[in-house]
Amino acid sequence: MIGQLLEEIAGIGRDPGTGGYNRFTYDEADTQLREWFADTAGAKGLEVHADRNGNLWAVRGPGPWIATGSHLDSVPNGGAFDGPLGIASAFAALDLMEPTVDVAVVAFAEEEGARFGVPCLGSRLLTGKVDAAQARQLVDHGGTTLAEAMARAGHDPDQIGTDPDWLAGISFFLELHIEQGRGLVDLGAPLGLGESIWPHGRWRLEFPGQADHAGTTRMEDRDDAVVRFARTVLAVSDGLSGSSSRATFGRLQVEPNGTNAIPSRVIAWLDARAQDEGNLAKIIDSLPDGSSVANESFSPAVAFDTTLSDQVSALLGHPPPLPTAAGHDAGVLASHVPTGMIFVRNPTGVSHSPAEWADPDDCQAGVVALAKVLSSL
Ligand code: HGY
Ligand code: MN
Ligand code: MN
Repeated sequence: MIGQLLEEIAGIGRDPGTGGYNRFTYDEADTQLREWFADTAGAKGLEVHADRNGNLWAVRGPGPWIATGSHLDSVPNGGAFDGPLGIASAFAALDLMEPTVDVAVVAFAEEEGARFGVPCLGSRLLTGKVDAAQARQLVDHGGTTLAEAMARAGHDPDQIGTDPDWLAGISFFLELHIEQGRGLVDLGAPLGLGESIWPHGRWRLEFPGQADHAGTTRMEDRDDAVVRFARTVLAVSDGLSGSSSRATFGRLQVEPNGTNAIPSRVIAWLDARAQDEGNLAKIIDSLPDGSSVANESFSPAVAFDTTLSDQVSALLGHPPPLPTAAGHDAGVLASHVPTGMIFVRNPTGVSHSPAEWADPDDCQAGVVALAKVLSSL
């Protein structure tokens, strides 16, 4: 079943050239995925609701619900499992469960923050962690605001914001996710339990420069924004060698972006993560002068609910507990409802890449584990 469900969406948003996925909130691929979600839920007799923040819920029974799910959106040229595995596994788990359990399957909006820049935007809005008015004004790379994109997709952006009624309807949240790392493959274990999420955040850096001619401006007379940026990247990267902290500049904007024009500005987004908030702050403090720094999102350290995790651990024969430096909606929900994560082995550890893969047997083991836990909670 899980294989068939993943197969049903395998072509949606897939780049035939790279095999990677481009599925961005409220775009064409996301719309198709939302239709798949609704069709699959309907076929299983669940009622489908979009909450005020564009999160999709498929519910059975009056609630309170045991909730499970993940996200449908991807990073640019992402993999097939990050997000959808948790949702497909939830639907497949329902087939292994008694129909008496009040369950909710959720697809959170904009988990990757790949379109509007704030990760876990749907779950952050739901829990009041992001200001609704500010969120409405978030813009994508083409200048479309979240409010415009929501309206075009049939949602009312004026409604976004915390939703205590939905939250009150959730008794537990359990997210199944492909592991993004080699913990399980190195341990030879098919499943793992989420133990904690490292603190992490995104910062927008601006590097100034002086526009001028690429040919007639002597090297000693230049003020090249890209050179400033490059020095920062190397300083941060060299500064972290030997530490467990991580810094990534994966997204850049060079202005005026002309081959023969000395760059007058570089905007660069830093994704920084560390085992604790002290080390995370050190990365930001280490940024050399010469750029303006604005924090765009911050996720504090998360420790999953130990009572729930102990229960899940006992039910699943004590799979290895895993800390992770990957953010998840479960990390956002964790401060509102008892929350846990089940990780499925990733044989290469690679994620946020077309090469991301999980073996069918391990995926099935995840479904069986999820069904067992949801039935027992
Ligand atoms: O970036 C992350 O940690 C997650 O994939 N959203
Ligand atoms: Mn991801
Ligand atoms: Mn994910």
